[in-house]
Amino acid sequence: MLLPLLLATVTNWHAAPAREPRAMVVTEQHYATQVGVDVLRHGGNAVDAAVAVGYALAVVDPCCGNIGGGGFMLVRMHDGRERFIDFRERAPFRATPSLYLDKHGNVIPNLSTKGYLAVGVPGTVMGLERARTEFGTRSRAALMSPAIKLAKDGYLIGPDDARVYKSMPGDTIKAGDVRKQRDLAATLTLIARDGPNAFYRGPIAQAIVAASSAHHGILSMKDFASYYTNELTPVHCSYRGYDLISAPPPSSGGVTLCEILNVISPYDFARWGWNSIQSAHYTVEAERRAYADRNTYLGDPSFVQNPVAQLLNARYGAKLRASISTNRATPSSQVDPGLGPIAHENAQTTSFSIVDSAGNAVAVTYTINDSFGAGVIAGNTGFFLNDEMDDFTSKPGVPNMFGLVQGTRNDIRGGKRPLSSMTPTIVTRNGKLFMVTGSPGGGRIITIVLSTLQNVIDYGMNVQDAVNAPRVHMQWLPDVVEYEPGAFSVQTMQQLQAMGYALKEVSSWGSAQAIVIDPKTGVRLGGTDRRRPEGLATGF
Ligand code: DON
Repeated sequence: MLLPLLLATVTNWHAAPAREPRAMVVTEQHYATQVGVDVLRHGGNAVDAAVAVGYALAVVDPCCGNIGGGGFMLVRMHDGRERFIDFRERAPFRATPSLYLDKHGNVIPNLSTKGYLAVGVPGTVMGLERARTEFGTRSRAALMSPAIKLAKDGYLIGPDDARVYKSMPGDTIKAGDVRKQRDLAATLTLIARDGPNAFYRGPIAQAIVAASSAHHGILSMKDFASYYTNELTPVHCSYRGYDLISAPPPSSGGVTLCEILNVISPYDFARWGWNSIQSAHYTVEAERRAYADRNTYLGDPSFVQNPVAQLLNARYGAKLRASISTNRATPSSQVDPGLGPIAHENAQTTSFSIVDSAGNAVAVTYTINDSFGAGVIAGNTGFFLNDEMDDFTSKPGVPNMFGLVQGTRNDIRGGKRPLSSMTPTIVTRNGKLFMVTGSPGGGRIITIVLSTLQNVIDYGMNVQDAVNAPRVHMQWLPDVVEYEPGAFSVQTMQQLQAMGYALKEVSSWGSAQAIVIDPKTGVRLGGTDRRRPEGLATGF
């Protein structure tokens, strides 16, 4: 009896992808997907759709979609132009490295995760507007009107929406309810009319600063008025003939992903098979080494120098590879950041993927960090504020909420952006668009994107299976390999333990939303993560 049951849990994640000839939108909430598809149907491009989806998710997926947080948008236009828009939150100017420490130098619990002291200056409104003005073809009002309508008229809560809302502070929302958000509708209406000024210099900033001051926060009008977005050069690397475009610092995502890919590129995963003993061993060991580097060397490039070229150098990849034993786990205590000491500084999330009929592609990952962020809504603004400050190093050596043990390059400074793991990624082959992907999941985001890519490129899975497949994760510290149910056979687990691995089952994580273009037909194949059942991949 046990065996068929086990097999059922191991195999029931297989499913066919969505297939559409011209355009595809994949998000973790079906109302938001429909908003994006409508924009594309009416002739908007992928960036227009991304802006409309960004605002729609702020209404229908408020755990994660947001205007109270920040993130990254990766754009690749069909003519090959690439843009990486950094709208990551910034620390308030009054923030200092010891913000969350008591007088003995110990981290005060919850200060960086709950309440106004946890809040960074949000970037989403300015980021979406920058993308729209640079690449969009539609007015702000037109792209925001579907979100405003969903907030004003309400939307039907599905069973998995209700599950997500269970962790929302101060509300009881059930499946079958129609959820209306009048305050949020008013806030969005103001932004539609006045643009980022309403948010950064007008009534919305004033409401947030007033609430922050009333609750021991340190946000000021100057923090809002000086907020800016960046356009950064994306990280590039190749893997088995595919070219990756991914997130540069202040995200660690692209650098860490490419460092892992460099280390594992000579291994024959296709022959070894998905989550076989060898595939797991070499992937996990590469992850261990790359996360040690991530946690030590990376930080906001406006404040610290990031040794990106050194970390992505092929010889460095070979050096790390040579340090992997063929038959033993390397204890993390023996893995030091591989560049040695180098010169010091010089100076709950969601992801969605869109491809339009012209072949323009957008990957966005944006976040308020924890589910429902810092758990606070300022006055009657109607939206949750982020707790992104927890992504900084509160104290070197002390893990943050994702268990990441980070260093001083990611220390807290006024105006600095906390190091992120968000990894919106676009893949091309021979100069043609091949794949668009990304996921939430905190420090695990990088390995989620890695496994989604490997599942397609190394193991030949369709994109729906690639996002569904049970995951494995290692981040240097803690020295534990996490896995989802069904990731390994019993025999593989026994072998891994015999090699010295500590294994830990975690029920599930992440929400990958991916598109693959069939190289022969150009058909858009969409995969929405089974872990967020309200998600939808569709198009036309
Ligand atoms: O930027 C980061 O890496 C995190 N703030 C992302 C948080 C996240 O993915 C939460 N969702 N599970």
